[in-house]
Amino acid sequence: MKYDFENFNKRFNSGSGKWNEAKSFGVKESDDIIPFSVADMEFSTAPEIIEGLKQKIETTILGYENPTPEYLETVCNWLKVRHNWNAKPEWILPSHGIVDAFFTAVKTYTNEGDGVMLMTPVYYPMYTAIKSTKRVLVDNKLIYNDGKYEIDFDDFERKAADKNTKMLILCSPHNPCGRVFTRQELSRIAEICLKNNVFVVSDEIHFDLIMPGHTHTVFASLSDDVADNCIVCTAPSKTFNLAGLQTSNIFIPNPEHREKFLNALKLSNPNPKCNLLGYFACEIAYKNCSQWLDEALNVINTNKNIIENFVKQEFPEIKITPLEGTYLMWLNCRGLSIGKNFKELERINHEEAKLFFDEGYIFGEQGEGFERWNIACPTRYINDALERMKKTYRKY
Ligand SMILES: Cc1ncc(COP(=O)(O)O)c(C=O)c1O
Repeated sequence: MKYDFENFNKRFNSGSGKWNEAKSFGVKESDDIIPFSVADMEFSTAPEIIEGLKQKIETTILGYENPTPEYLETVCNWLKVRHNWNAKPEWILPSHGIVDAFFTAVKTYTNEGDGVMLMTPVYYPMYTAIKSTKRVLVDNKLIYNDGKYEIDFDDFERKAADKNTKMLILCSPHNPCGRVFTRQELSRIAEICLKNNVFVVSDEIHFDLIMPGHTHTVFASLSDDVADNCIVCTAPSKTFNLAGLQTSNIFIPNPEHREKFLNALKLSNPNPKCNLLGYFACEIAYKNCSQWLDEALNVINTNKNIIENFVKQEFPEIKITPLEGTYLMWLNCRGLSIGKNFKELERINHEEAKLFFDEGYIFGEQGEGFERWNIACPTRYINDALERMKKTYRKY
């Protein structure tokens, strides 16, 4: 390994919400405990990014900045090399974040009262994007079968055919279920949406975080017709742990859709630009940090295997959904005696085990009794947490 995934600066005295939550439950710096909730990594930033940003700051003026042609080419090249998609630079609109982008998309392409479909349980701000803009949630529940999630295509097709359904917000790879949808599944979604004029907002923020044996397919890469009927939301933020730099890249191949989106964006943000350090960091990451990413994925895969083996041996009542993509494991704890009451499970995790996961219920009612475990961290913290889990859960 070229990179160090064991040492990092803890955000104990920072504005990080997840660290402050742990502190509010009495965790002290000397306890050497890390939280596993919000989806950013406890890995040091790739040294190439740190050095590149230092150099940039020393040699440039931190003024107003638009994405340069080289930046746009670099983003397209990443999509080509990592995801085999030939995107064009002019399709890209930079955005502060993907949550911003799917809120804007809902406001741009639908009207109040229109139906917006989600495949649930799902990343919770997607519900808010629908509710707060007075759209109607069209709930296509994923089928949970022996720990694995599948798309309920009968239900999907029926709901897409409803004249009121105007949009699908697709979470691909899926957070929190960890699915990397196959090309066949995505093609079927695309076909149904095209047939029924349902516009697709494909949130692919986790697109680079793919476990061995799985392949991510960019939704718009399926065909020109599909590209015309969607926007694809990408970012270096999950991949390289750059969320604080607030830079993402929204691909909108259809020029009319792109113009509409930009006009809507300008209503909430009259000068939609990203932070120039975000542009620099993204460019450096996409040009120079492939190996860092591959090594980070190895650590994540190791952590996943350790948790799976431990849970199989010690707590066979916990069902883990196979992690195909993202660094967010999804554990069904309903089989534990303490898992029956999910609020009590949360209390025990926080107060006794000092385990800070994202509670499954925040992703929808199907998530009650589940825990989402962010495993992008040094392996020793996974081992420590499993021991605390064993010690605490055994008491009940
Ligand atoms: C599916 C998904 N979309 C969007 C985001 C957040 O995106 P951003 O920080 O760019 O708004 C997350 C963060 O966890 C996520 O999991």
